[in-house]
Amino acid sequence: MTNWYNEDLAYIHDVGFSDYALKSAPGILEILQKLSIPRGLIVDLGCGSGLLTEVLSRDGYGVLGIDISAAMIAIAKTRVPIAEFRVDSLLTAEIPACTAVVSIGECLSYAFDDNSDRVLENLFQRVYHALSPGGMFIFDVVTPGQIPTGEVVKTFTEAEDWIVLVEKKEDFARQILTRRIITFRQIGELYRRSEEVHLSRLFNLESLAKLIEQTGFQVEIFNHYGQFQLPPAHAAFILQKPLLESRN
Ligand SMILES: C[S@@+](CC[C@H](N)C(=O)[O-])C[C@H]1O[C@@H](n2cnc3c(N)ncnc32)[C@H](O)[C@@H]1O
Repeated sequence: MTNWYNEDLAYIHDVGFSDYALKSAPGILEILQKLSIPRGLIVDLGCGSGLLTEVLSRDGYGVLGIDISAAMIAIAKTRVPIAEFRVDSLLTAEIPACTAVVSIGECLSYAFDDNSDRVLENLFQRVYHALSPGGMFIFDVVTPGQIPTGEVVKTFTEAEDWIVLVEKKEDFARQILTRRIITFRQIGELYRRSEEVHLSRLFNLESLAKLIEQTGFQVEIFNHYGQFQLPPAHAAFILQKPLLESRN
């Protein structure tokens, strides 16, 4: 059991914060279809509760979902019984041969485990080798500037049987976003309190693009997936393995 996206936060993310995945999905399908990626295997890194996995699976793709949160994977397995799922870190998990890899919802930014440049470079290399020629790696990250330097922003979101309180601050020097997340979820007559602290790496887009290009990918950066405009301080990377390049 990890300390991230435990049972209550996984439930709340699934029922209350599905918008990002569901609104990104049409744009992602469009990218995959435009590039004539055949209906092969797609690896969904940081698949969460399987919201995008379900859309991809319905569209005819085979999907392997990988997430560090056992609670998220438990929901995903119920949502998409025909997909395969693994509880593992996306940063180190084995990536099987596939036609595309997706990672939607800032998953690569999360610093639950080591996501230093060295680890990311290794991930990009492994994804490159796993992809068939012309294959895509589509993901998004957080960038600096969501919270003015030195400020702490507190917000809450509520629904019938839960409330989530979030305190956010950015450390400009370390390029880290810290989110302290407190949830209250109704269990019978009472509300259960849980708390998690999530650290996310804030990426410099130019440096990240350079790191990726070294692996052989062609890189494009967008602030939207199709019609869905990403929130401020987010960027989507669309990487393509060249059709003809041969690398060792
Ligand atoms: C904001 S949620 C997005 C989930 C899903 N992709 C979606 O769009 O609904 C981020 C997900 O990334 C997962 N995650 C973060 N770091 C991870 C890591 N190192 N390995 C695997 N999963 C990770 C979290 O457990 C969480 O499910």
